[in-house]
Amino acid sequence: MGCNWYNLEPACLKETYVGLINSVIFNDKWFKVAVCFIAFNPIFWNVVARLEYRTHVLTKLAGGARSGCYLLALTIFSLGIARDLSFEWAMRAQPTSPVLDSELIRNLGRLCIGAGQVLVLTSMYQLGITGTYLGDYFGILMDNIVTAFPFNVSNNPMYHGSTLSFLGYSLLQGKPAGLVITLFVHTMYSIALKFEEPFTAAIYAQRDAQRAKKD
Ligand SMILES: *[C@@H]1O[C@H](CO)[C@@H](O)[C@H](O)[C@H]1NC(C)=O
Repeated sequence: MGCNWYNLEPACLKETYVGLINSVIFNDKWFKVAVCFIAFNPIFWNVVARLEYRTHVLTKLAGGARSGCYLLALTIFSLGIARDLSFEWAMRAQPTSPVLDSELIRNLGRLCIGAGQVLVLTSMYQLGITGTYLGDYFGILMDNIVTAFPFNVSNNPMYHGSTLSFLGYSLLQGKPAGLVITLFVHTMYSIALKFEEPFTAAIYAQRDAQRAKKD
């Protein structure tokens, strides 16, 4: 049977997708390390940012809100590099799948990487360092909510861009294990947003209420 990823006959669907999952080496050391970083990083920055909001621990440590936020930014950035390196090493140990071995898939991968990088970089450009790295928890708020690109195409361009990049590299390299990791990245970011969005909304609502009182 000529099964391919775009062959939607039920028997083929099963053969293709069960085959993809079965080829993943879940027991590989770097695969586990990558999964740990992907789970740990968003938990880390949410816990630390809330701790900062309640106790100003980083502000005190760094001698100012802005320096505190830069310290957190540097830490999150380094954790991100560790995560990306472990992902890269994990992918090397994983088999490539013949199902994903086509120029169409690789081009789709390149497209995802490109779109992902555009989202991440333009988001950083719009928000700056403090806006990107949880400055609101330090009391460094944006004057206005940014609605310009990329925020007119995505509510969370950082997270969507990062997820798209993982997807892109997995497709480009033809690694089913990368697709599994991408799904996990997406899950972790979705969970993180459940904590971050209401908290940030509350911080800004508080600021707006204070502004209204002054007027
Ligand atoms: C978002 O903004 C960009 C740049 O201003 C614009 O080119 C694009 O059409 C906008 N997209 C949507 C969906 O509004």
